Amino acid sequence: DPTAARRPTESIHVESPNLTYTDDALLSRYTFHSTAVDKQADAQGHVKYSVRPVERELEFKTGRKVPKTGLMLVGLGGNNGTTLTATILANRHNISWGTRDGIQTPNYLGSLVRASTMRLGVDAQGEDVFVPISDVLPMVHPNDLTVGGWDISSMSLDKAARRAKVLEYDLQRQLEPYLKEYTPLPSIYYPTFINANQEERADNVIPGSDKQAHLDQVRADIRNFKRDNDLDQVIVLWTANTERYSLLVDGVNDTADNLLESIRTSHAEVSPSTIFAVAAILEGVPYVNGAPQNTFVPGAIELAERHKAFVAGDDFKSGQTKVKSVLAEYLVNAGIKPLLIASYNHLGNNDGKNLSAPEQFRSKEISKASVVDDMVEANSLLYKPLAVKEADSKDGFVKGHSTEHPDHCVVIKYLPNCGDDKKAIDDYTSEIGMGGRNTLAIYNTCQDSLLATPLIIDLCLLAELMTRVTYREEGSADYEPMYSVLGLLSYMLKAPLTKPGKKPINSLNRQRQALEAFLRACLALQPVSDLVTFTQME
Ligand code: NAI
Repeated sequence: DPTAARRPTESIHVESPNLTYTDDALLSRYTFHSTAVDKQADAQGHVKYSVRPVERELEFKTGRKVPKTGLMLVGLGGNNGTTLTATILANRHNISWGTRDGIQTPNYLGSLVRASTMRLGVDAQGEDVFVPISDVLPMVHPNDLTVGGWDISSMSLDKAARRAKVLEYDLQRQLEPYLKEYTPLPSIYYPTFINANQEERADNVIPGSDKQAHLDQVRADIRNFKRDNDLDQVIVLWTANTERYSLLVDGVNDTADNLLESIRTSHAEVSPSTIFAVAAILEGVPYVNGAPQNTFVPGAIELAERHKAFVAGDDFKSGQTKVKSVLAEYLVNAGIKPLLIASYNHLGNNDGKNLSAPEQFRSKEISKASVVDDMVEANSLLYKPLAVKEADSKDGFVKGHSTEHPDHCVVIKYLPNCGDDKKAIDDYTSEIGMGGRNTLAIYNTCQDSLLATPLIIDLCLLAELMTRVTYREEGSADYEPMYSVLGLLSYMLKAPLTKPGKKPINSLNRQRQALEAFLRACLALQPVSDLVTFTQME
């Protein structure tokens, strides 16, 4: 078995009375420290903060047995779907390929889990010790994932990979015998949800217009895939075309019961992606949305909560948005005030072709719009509260902000000859000291699918891990699963889905810290702190 040697082993052993190892679980006792703040203004308007440290005793239980896991992609035949499958196959079979620069070996660069490390602690000499994130807790190895899924295009993956024009010819050639074994399952196609220019691909659709029958078929597909491949767990992930937004209609998709009824009556506003999400929820497998549309209408979230199923979204955060969240945070935290952020993109792949219609572009625009909101709201010295909420401003971009906000626009243009290379040009103009101006111009070119594919792997591996972690307040009887909306996957997602009523956190740094803190908590370890590192208080 070529993958046996690469299966995860537990290379970390924690010696602590707070961590118990049983045959099948890690049992952690963890004190969570937080700070409660009460903010009040006196009669003169002076704000006073009353602060109280709070401790909460938690217990985490993490399953040590890594399940045999399948990854079902909606959009398997697309650029991401083919690139993901090819990446896993090339790694699993250790296939190298010739390029004009020499021999290239396969890897998982760009994956937080497989290609990055976190600081575990310090050694006896006081030096930092870093470990691969994949070693911190038992996690599935991507080489071991069984890949399958659906596409409205029937093309087998060897041909679809050629159509995608992402991989080098010599790799396509060597993978052909493997890839041609993969043929997408027929999928749900409602033409009003994606761009009309996709219609020529749609030769592999589940027949009829009965949405209940479509839901039942997708549920059966998930069950069959699990059974036929002898899997313990399946993750379903949408990497199909961006849909237009679904209209939110009372009585149609506002509650779980109304949504299920709307599927039974084949209501026009139920999108293919929502049907896939409902199918995964009802089958009890995690569902991740890698595109920007509002798959998770309120009824879908309620359904996930009801079934204690896991969902995450929206939209892979692969390039421009990742940089934007980092730069905006740097500027605002440095006391520099971004005044405008203008983002222009052009790309030539099928994703770009689909986004060339206003309704699909609008989904992307919304998902890219709110990235800097939390940074802006965090600094009231730079951005003053607005007396009246701007419901709808002149340019259509600033909506409902409670504070001043930089001008922000996103443009995407489809230029076929650009291929899978995406070019992103960004202008950040900020106010610096004494009325000065600072402009940063960023030009980012990348192969879009080669950035997105590692995110799919991270989302899958981390979603699977979350299904193995349960927790309880110390003293309560039962361990509970994590909350249905997996906010810890925000690092990979452009518009992180949250519990209804909660604001997303877009700061990439905080998203990563949260993930590290969670992994450590499962090992009964507090987050690492630099208090001593920088002060030399050894
Ligand atoms: P693509 O257009 O190459 O692939 C999408 C595939 O989905 C196509 O094969 C299409 O036939 C299929 N499809 C469309 N509707 C379907 C349905 N109802 N059921 C099953 N299959 C369906 O696009 P690409 O580049 O692979 O991107 C996929 C998605 O990921 C897009 O929505 C894109 O916006 C999103 N995304 C991609 C990023 C990246 O590549 N860097 C970053 C962020 C998001």
